[in-house]
Amino acid sequence: MSNATNNVFRQKVKIQKKDRQVQKANKSFVIWFTGLSGSGKSSLANELEFLLYKRNLSTYLLDGDNIRLGLNKDLGFNSQDRMENIRRIAEVSKLFVDAGVISIAAFISPYIAERNLARSMLEVGEFIEIYVKCPITVCEIRDPKGLYKKARSGEIKEFTGISAPYEEPISPEIIIETHKVSISNAAEQIVQYLLVNKLINN
Ligand code: ADX
Repeated sequence: MSNATNNVFRQKVKIQKKDRQVQKANKSFVIWFTGLSGSGKSSLANELEFLLYKRNLSTYLLDGDNIRLGLNKDLGFNSQDRMENIRRIAEVSKLFVDAGVISIAAFISPYIAERNLARSMLEVGEFIEIYVKCPITVCEIRDPKGLYKKARSGEIKEFTGISAPYEEPISPEIIIETHKVSISNAAEQIVQYLLVNKLINN
């Protein structure tokens, strides 16, 4: 334990996660999208949130680019900063789950260890890892933000898949191959998974 928390004590609260879930009439959990830049994480997460919202479920979407413009604007892309980025989002996701909200996180999250850390912070069954799998050649052709071009020319350093690592998930709950299925079909597939596994029931 770090010295900073030596004299800090967890306070008991009256209202618990279960109470908030009952009030919102849904279970709460994390849907964690991982994959290369340009693989389709944001589009898929966005479409999934729309489908869940239409089902009257409480959701919140945490998207890498958006979070990096706010809460994590002090972080860059070296390995230490990426680890801190994911640690903070894992904590935020846990808070949302505690609040009774389905947390949808879309981050490259390139390291197995940090994704496992996020999983370990939640209860069994509360962390659904979705690997948004797409060949880098396809991501590079898509290049929606022109970043692969900049990474190839050296203008951006430590770019995932080009000059920084991406560690593929070993046993994610779901794999979506975005070069093979449409975003709307993939989002429907995730909804079906949630129904079958009784994470949502309508
Ligand atoms: S993570 O690796 O720390 O999980 P995160 O998902 O938050 O990354 O942010 C990734 C987004 O930042 C990309 O979609 C891209 O728009 C932008 N970006 C800027 N620089 C880089 C870089 N060096 N590597 C990857 N993405 C980058």
